[in-house]
Amino acid sequence: MSGTDPVEDVVGTIARSAIEIRQGLVGRRGEADEENPTGDRQAEADVWADELLAERLTAIDGVAEYASEERSEIVDGGDERLHVAVDPLDGSSNLKSNNTMGTVFGIYDEPLPAPGTSLVASGWILYGPITTMAYARDGTVTKYELTGGERAVVEEDVTLPEDPFVYGFGGRVPEWTDDFTAFAREIESDPSNKLRYGGAMIGDVNQVLTYGGIFAYPALEGSPRGKLRLQFEGNPIAYLVETAGGRSSDGDQSILEVEPEDLHDRVPVHVGNAAWIDRLEDALA
Ligand code: F6P
Repeated sequence: MSGTDPVEDVVGTIARSAIEIRQGLVGRRGEADEENPTGDRQAEADVWADELLAERLTAIDGVAEYASEERSEIVDGGDERLHVAVDPLDGSSNLKSNNTMGTVFGIYDEPLPAPGTSLVASGWILYGPITTMAYARDGTVTKYELTGGERAVVEEDVTLPEDPFVYGFGGRVPEWTDDFTAFAREIESDPSNKLRYGGAMIGDVNQVLTYGGIFAYPALEGSPRGKLRLQFEGNPIAYLVETAGGRSSDGDQSILEVEPEDLHDRVPVHVGNAAWIDRLEDALA
């Protein structure tokens, strides 16, 4: 495939494929008897969505690499400029209970693994009651509704609302560090704040973009780098939330500043309104 703007080709292909991915979930809710490179059980739909996106994205002129949370090796697309990292089905453990899931993508202009500072665009599709896409590029975030092959803009220049009130924190509470627990208790103790946690990062981050607040999957006692992956999850959502005027942090610095060592590195993730991320960093300091 060739177009004038390869970034748009990638995003358009992901948006169109998302409609098929959503429809293809029916009949693919079982487990695949495999684990992904970071040890999560794969669903049949994870493997299928990954293969579909790998084939389509590497066929685009301009795509040098395709990497995904669901495969250990990078797929080589040729000597081109864009390096695409995807979580084909974020939150696929929600398939069994038929709860929200998403597809996340980051488009880098450096070979993977790459720092978030080399992202040129990122976004996510949310498979909620409606299929929507949030997309960050050139300093602005746009929200779309996806139907058939169409992409309809619902909001331009999206920014995080000024009065944050939702929070969603992953990881078993007994495994949180004392400092993170203290921060969580502070947020919970404000009667205007409300817990909302759905177990799929994209659903939980999208509500932060919608209402204002914070999502975190923090460092845990038994897992100091948390659970989420830097290339496929941490960087793309950090880029989008920062573009929307929010902040991201690994506990100490912007997630976008974290230097990757391995394609499947994990990172503690905290994203949301700047004032809350400032408080989080103070609590963890
Ligand atoms: O990528 C893994 C993922 O499914 C994220 O979408 C989500 O935030 C997290 O894991 C949920 O983990 P847990 O089941 O520990 O709440």
